[in-house]
Amino acid sequence: MIDPRDEKKLIKTITSLITLLMLVIVTLISIVFWMIFGSKDDTLPEIIEEENDIVENVIPSMDESNDLWVAPSVSEIPEGREGELIRYGKELVANTTEYFGPKGSVAHLSNGLNCQNCHLDAGTKVWGNNYGSVAATYPKMRGRSGQVEGVFKRISDCFERSLNGTAPDSNSREMKAMAAYIKWVGKDVAKGNKAKGSGIFNIAFLDRPADPKHGKEVYEAKCAVCHQSDGQGQLNDKGNNYTYPPLWGRWSYNKGAGLYRLSRFAGYVKANMPLGVSYNAPQLTDEEAWDVAAYVNTKERPGLDLSKDWPDISKKKIDHPFGPYVDPFPESQHKFGPFTEIQSFYDELKKSKL
Ligand code: HEC
Ligand code: HEC
Repeated sequence: MIDPRDEKKLIKTITSLITLLMLVIVTLISIVFWMIFGSKDDTLPEIIEEENDIVENVIPSMDESNDLWVAPSVSEIPEGREGELIRYGKELVANTTEYFGPKGSVAHLSNGLNCQNCHLDAGTKVWGNNYGSVAATYPKMRGRSGQVEGVFKRISDCFERSLNGTAPDSNSREMKAMAAYIKWVGKDVAKGNKAKGSGIFNIAFLDRPADPKHGKEVYEAKCAVCHQSDGQGQLNDKGNNYTYPPLWGRWSYNKGAGLYRLSRFAGYVKANMPLGVSYNAPQLTDEEAWDVAAYVNTKERPGLDLSKDWPDISKKKIDHPFGPYVDPFPESQHKFGPFTEIQSFYDELKKSKL
């Protein structure tokens, strides 16, 4: 016979053991759930939808330039593991080719460009195609893929198109680092807002098609000294990174890339090239920027299977130069302009849907 007092004790011990076990199980289940759902990129609920219009920007006056976005200072990068990841991400954005280029130390996945060649100052320069609004506007419904894209997917897009390669695995430390850095750059922009001065400057449309012949003259006079007459740029002495990146040919961005759209190229160049200029002290006129864009984007470059892009063709950006379209304008006009009447077509379409 068991002493009833012992029996009580035993029951008490067993009950506490069971409670403890339950606690452990619940904790384990929560951890598993967190690992599956919680740590994933982009679980935020509000989705921002992209428009297909290109509204021109006006250079802000002196007082307005005060509200232009300013990147956080590197001294704000936190200490510890998160900070280490962000710093590594910045390094990868600045010197991508040393890690992923044809002679890369991590893998050989890309054409040799650095993210920073197009996202200037590691994606922090005002109207230098910076990352200011990424944290605030992704995940985003994008017309090109017809999908809700998070930051990982958007980075992969640039690997596949601008870097004409393949993206590193989304579980890799490198992908996590670049995403952590890009999100850190935009950390002070409120969710849903597009910061003024982020991304690429939209320059005014011309009332004629952009002219590659005049663009060649601009190129020879203002670009060839660095990017070379043959557009192939110049490698550094070690041969592992570009001093001047190529603008066309097999080592350049492919036909699915953002810069292949004339408005992106022209806006990027107007506010940033020749190297050293800025949006408020540009060197090219709007005409020169559009024409040099037309010249560079009629040169040979790698292709890409674009058949899955723009599943809803009414969402196509007006300067995407590959049909079919819902509008009646030919591919050549989508490539070189004039764009005003194409833009009006979509403005009307939007109104008729309201
Ligand atoms: C050849 C030029 C080029 C290179 C190199 C490049 N990108 Fe991009 N990237 C672009 C263009 C153009 C856009 C689209 C900008 C627009 O439409 O306003 C873009 C957009 C992005 C965006 C979305 C920005 C936004 O506000 O929506 C992210 C994020 C991005 N790139 C990351 C990267 C990363 C990371 C790399 C390097 C692995 C990289 N890019 C390399 C040209 C480039
Ligand atoms: C003084 C040298 C210099 C001149 C002149 C110059 N660039 Fe650049 N360009 C650069 C450098 C350097 C980069 C990369 C910037 C970086 O990594 O910080 C670059 C990047 C670019 C890029 C994005 C990267 C790529 O390879 O696609 C484009 C497009 C571009 N330049 C176009 C032009 C055009 C068009 C002109 C003439 C109007 C021009 N540049 C004049 C030095 C120059």
